[in-house]
Amino acid sequence: MPETTPRGLTRLAFGGDYNPEQWPEDVWREDVRLMREAGVTMVSVGIFSWALLEPAPGEYDFGWLDRVLDLLHEHGVRVDLGTPTAAPPAWFYRAHPEALPVTEQGVRHEFGSRAAICHSNADYRAAAAHITTRLAERYGDHPALALWHVHNEYGVPVSACYCDSCAAHFRRWLRAVHGTVDAVNEAWGTAFWGQHYTDLEQINPPRATPTVGNPAQALDYRRFADATMRENFVMERDVLHRLSPGVPVTTNFMTALSQCDSVDYWAWGREVDLVTNDHYLITDGRRTHVNLAMAADLTRSVAGGAPWILLEHSTSGVNWQPRNPAKAPGQMARNSLAHVARGSEGAMFFQWRQSRRGAEKFHSAMLPHGGTDTRVWREVVELGASLDALAPVRGTRTEADVAVLWDWHSWWAQNLAWRPSEDHDARERADTFYEVLYDRHLTVDFAHPEADLSRHPLVVVPALYLMTEAAGANLRGYVEGGGTLVVSYFSGIVDAHDAVHAGAHPGALRDVLGLTVEEFSPLLPGETVRLTRPDGPDLSGDVWTEFVVPRGAEPVWSYADGLTAGRPAVTRHRLGAGTAWYVSTRLGHEGLDAVLGRAAEDAGIAPRAELPRDVEVVRRSGTGGTYLFALNHTATDAKVPLETSGTELLTGERAAGRLAVPAGAVRVVRLDG
Ligand code: GLA
Ligand code: ZN
Repeated sequence: MPETTPRGLTRLAFGGDYNPEQWPEDVWREDVRLMREAGVTMVSVGIFSWALLEPAPGEYDFGWLDRVLDLLHEHGVRVDLGTPTAAPPAWFYRAHPEALPVTEQGVRHEFGSRAAICHSNADYRAAAAHITTRLAERYGDHPALALWHVHNEYGVPVSACYCDSCAAHFRRWLRAVHGTVDAVNEAWGTAFWGQHYTDLEQINPPRATPTVGNPAQALDYRRFADATMRENFVMERDVLHRLSPGVPVTTNFMTALSQCDSVDYWAWGREVDLVTNDHYLITDGRRTHVNLAMAADLTRSVAGGAPWILLEHSTSGVNWQPRNPAKAPGQMARNSLAHVARGSEGAMFFQWRQSRRGAEKFHSAMLPHGGTDTRVWREVVELGASLDALAPVRGTRTEADVAVLWDWHSWWAQNLAWRPSEDHDARERADTFYEVLYDRHLTVDFAHPEADLSRHPLVVVPALYLMTEAAGANLRGYVEGGGTLVVSYFSGIVDAHDAVHAGAHPGALRDVLGLTVEEFSPLLPGETVRLTRPDGPDLSGDVWTEFVVPRGAEPVWSYADGLTAGRPAVTRHRLGAGTAWYVSTRLGHEGLDAVLGRAAEDAGIAPRAELPRDVEVVRRSGTGGTYLFALNHTATDAKVPLETSGTELLTGERAAGRLAVPAGAVRVVRLDG
């Protein structure tokens, strides 16, 4: 059985991508000395080194990597060793130009950046297996080896290829999944617009078409592309398991919904020995620490609640956004420890030493161009000491209050063309629901719609357009058993193949919600509707309204204007021992907070109003103790009530009553008992 934590790592992971091949060897000595100074415990090596390791087909040069691994080992730094298969060498593409991916429009990408890969290509697969085998044979039992890092960020930047080998592979996949061409016709509804196939051989990827193509075909293609990348991951993983027994294998995810939309991480979470994630702050005007918390919660959830590792984030600015702000003093530590609070067993960075050349020379690093006499370096050293002090949290698990349902397949289906309104955005709903829960100081577990939900008193469904009957039955059982459910509009509409469930909307959820929806009535940009209730505040909705017909549910808020005036807008349905809420319009933060407040009451979740906004409190617990993380994202000193006394690990001080958390600071209390 492969291990599930990096071999030989006895502290939290702290370090970064280490690319010594960009530097002369005399710099390596300084690297390891400074790594020691900063308290680095693990680095990721060799991720893009294929061209150096195999300079010509079948000719290898492992000497430099031998020296790097030995040097790291001498200095007590553990190694997360990459398989370099995200960056095949130029000679490979000269010999196999058809391994370069092709766009929907039929344009073949060129060599010269990275990750230009057709994952169906047999020559690529053979070459990737080969270099992985050679690496595993050479380093499988190297004393520095802690973890294998396969490839890099599958799904980014190329999410799918539309070439002829992918077409052939897609047909094989269709045969395996659907069986016959008639089953494909049925699943895709090809009776529409004369798309009927008489042989699987007639089917192609959903390449550019004059008008909108078959939506179920497009949805299956996303599944196929994801499954094909996973086949390649599994192929490499199995080589590593065979030749490097016990050493855990990972590949770095990118769970932030704004950063990767092509990978079904529920499926990938089951294939890796240890979940690892990359996270970068996106400056889109939203509160970046909320986006970070959401990605961390999603990562922990795809790991099944088990500890995971943040493998990359940035010490300061990145260089791939239109504008790349530096991090404020203290922000790097706050970001790092926010991931740790939510289950990460450390905090690693892209990258150790800032490059002088290449596309990422303006991306921050642990060791900046300016060297050690810099703010970033001083903060890095300080963070190393903090993470060292936090080693006792290893193995504990983050406690959650609420489950939010999420499903990449539903998101893919939702984003296909020709829906009732292009303004409805499933990701926006997930972000906004999350933000409201965050502001209520509730910790979120994400869950697949068919997962066991019974341990969560409150389950929230921000937007699950695609929902199988099994998921609908799961939610019904959850509510009947005493759970509280909150469902947002346009959920439970279609089955796994984007076919509308038989009967009135929302087919998968009619019974549990106690209502039907006769018609969707999206609003135009700038239009809003008012929602009223006899004994409560008015709310405002935009983007979407529905003609809701209660069939057991009671209206709580009703539409006061617009086409749906007089009809229920927000409803509540008692079913068995539980309650199901439905929200038929797009509520903003305040409106959702009002509804979630009522639902939290139904679920028996007490408000945490005593905590200030943007003071984040999260707990990790387990046999290793209970740890309260308090992160103050504001510019004002804050106090956080403690239920018992304890010891603050970063200052070593005793803490009791109300814990002082200075502006911008983090405190971690090991609670007594
Ligand atoms: C990704 C990659 C890294 C690097 C960083 C820069 O996460 O995995 O190689 O490009 O982005 O932010
Ligand atoms: Zn292809």
